Amino acid sequence: MARDFTSVGVVGLGTMGAGIVEVFARNGVDVVAVEVSEDALDRGRAILTGSTDRAVAKGKLAEADRDALLSRVRFAVGLDALHAVDLVIEAVPEHLDLKQRIFTELDRICKPEAILATNTSSLSVTEISVATSRPNQVIGIHFFNPAPVMKLVEVVRTVVTSADVVADVEGLCKRLGKVDVTISDRAGFIANALLFGYLNHAVGMFESHYATREDIDAAMKLGCGLPMGPLALMDLIGVDTAYEILDTMYRRGGRDRRHAPVPLIKQMVTAGLLGRKSGRGFYTYERPGSPVVVPDEQTPVPADAALGDGTRAGGGSAGPAAVTKIGIVGSGTMATGIIEVFAKAGYEVVSVTRGAEKSAKVFEAVKTSLNKGVVRGKLSEADRDAALGRINWSATLEHLADVDLVVEAVVEELSVKKALFASLDEICKPGVVLATTTSSLPVIDVAMATQRPADVVGLHFFNPAPLMPLVEVVETIRTSAETTATARAVCAALGKTGVVCGDRSGFIVNALLFPYLNDAVKMLEASYSTADDIDHAMKLGCGYPMGPFELLDVVGLDVALAIQRELYLELREPGFAPAPLLEHLVTAGYLGRKSGRGFRDHTRR
Ligand SMILES: NC(=O)c1ccc[n+]([C@@H]2O[C@H](COP(=O)([O-])OP(=O)(O)OC[C@H]3O[C@@H](n4cnc5c(N)ncnc54)[C@H](O)[C@@H]3O)[C@@H](O)[C@H]2O)c1
Repeated sequence: MARDFTSVGVVGLGTMGAGIVEVFARNGVDVVAVEVSEDALDRGRAILTGSTDRAVAKGKLAEADRDALLSRVRFAVGLDALHAVDLVIEAVPEHLDLKQRIFTELDRICKPEAILATNTSSLSVTEISVATSRPNQVIGIHFFNPAPVMKLVEVVRTVVTSADVVADVEGLCKRLGKVDVTISDRAGFIANALLFGYLNHAVGMFESHYATREDIDAAMKLGCGLPMGPLALMDLIGVDTAYEILDTMYRRGGRDRRHAPVPLIKQMVTAGLLGRKSGRGFYTYERPGSPVVVPDEQTPVPADAALGDGTRAGGGSAGPAAVTKIGIVGSGTMATGIIEVFAKAGYEVVSVTRGAEKSAKVFEAVKTSLNKGVVRGKLSEADRDAALGRINWSATLEHLADVDLVVEAVVEELSVKKALFASLDEICKPGVVLATTTSSLPVIDVAMATQRPADVVGLHFFNPAPLMPLVEVVETIRTSAETTATARAVCAALGKTGVVCGDRSGFIVNALLFPYLNDAVKMLEASYSTADDIDHAMKLGCGYPMGPFELLDVVGLDVALAIQRELYLELREPGFAPAPLLEHLVTAGYLGRKSGRGFRDHTRR
């Protein structure tokens, strides 16, 4: 007969434990909440009441329900209070010896039929289980942060966990309104195995001054639709917890260098900068435990925000130059979108294509897109006509002689772009900003095709340009501060967020996104889980808008493979080697939605 969990124990009331207490108590289960000292108990109680009070204030929980919830929780110091519970979930810091000691104690104290569960993110559940005399009743129940909000629970079964224990825990998860995926005991399970390499890489970018914390976070939120940026997420997880998870994953997961914690993380732990819980991590918070970020010495001053830091380009700060007339070269998807964006924002645009026929096609495409805006009531007919009227159509570069900014969006071939920039150098007036939209070529190569590399910058728009709010502003080692400032100011005038980064393969977004997608393919290839469960895990555990396989099918497997190859070639990181399965699917013509089949068959939907 299935177990009926009427009372559970939670050990450790930190970031996760307090949230787990709330999940159970909200669902009518009595909870014994245990901490190591009275002080720690008070802190845990404060996290719980803070969270439930916020839910009441937001109208998500009635006051009476909050009171009922809190009345189901009994707080105690020491494990002895757990002698009568049906299930214990341990959520103490991520140290194997500590967890083993606690499990040995729990085994002695808890009734023989009780299930003992760990919320570990990266340690071996098997190793924890052997500290007890009942390893078949030990299981991983891995909640996600914040536990009351995130729908996913990873249920981790060891080789000795009884089938009935797994089934009962799965049933319990459903009762709690959670979606569970059951997996075997591997470092990082699904979600963290895919998440932490990305987080560590983002910290590495910050540590090496590749981009600011605000820009790294904005890039991933606006470029990928993630609920929070990687550095803000590190603060939510807890920098110390993240360190332990990375360290364990490095040791257990084949010593992948991408999991070796970036030195800055250890320094922050030593300095007590643990994230939200200590009031300061990558960001500074109103007070310990608060989610509210307050300005600190790293916060960009609004007026300066458009200036860039000038550190890559000879120092000094400079204001943006005035830009009113834009030249856009190219006639593909990106050029078309960018023409629309500038024209709609009120700039005078000169579009240069390779001939009248191409110009006519681009004109039609821009008109069709603007018409959609009119139909949806987002744009008046007069505004549409004014936008179209601002575009001048040309087939010769000579017409760019008096523009203030040129945006190049021609084919992604270095020789073509270099030749174009050499021509622009001869034609354009001095002081013009010359921008390339390349997503994979080094901007410096293009810059050096001109006699004015200080004026050359990358402006990496995302597709579809009229909708995507992000632009990566790519500075080379020769870009001047004024050029960056102008580029950033133009992004702001377009209503987009310009994030400044260095000239490295993948810039911010692709460098952080594609290795994660590649890792998901490797996980599938190793038969650790299914595409559906992996997609579920990332959507429900991390709040991603799409799972990795859904996204790969949309982006195109060939595109993903090409980007991953570039990253691998430039950074020489063994972990970036493209997954063989990705290569095989591309060879087989399974390119995703556009070919009808990728990781999923799209012809039958
Ligand atoms: N932070 C996350 O995002 C996250 C997500 C999922 C899982 N986890 C896992 O959850 C576990 C807890 O992580 P956290 O971030 O909540 O840590 P935390 O540091 O915020 O909280 C740990 C709590 O355990 C208490 N504690 C320490 N020793 C104890 C003992 N002997 N008895 C009772 N309580 C004790 C501490 O006082 C502290 O309140 C870890 O295994 C972690 O890997 C964390």
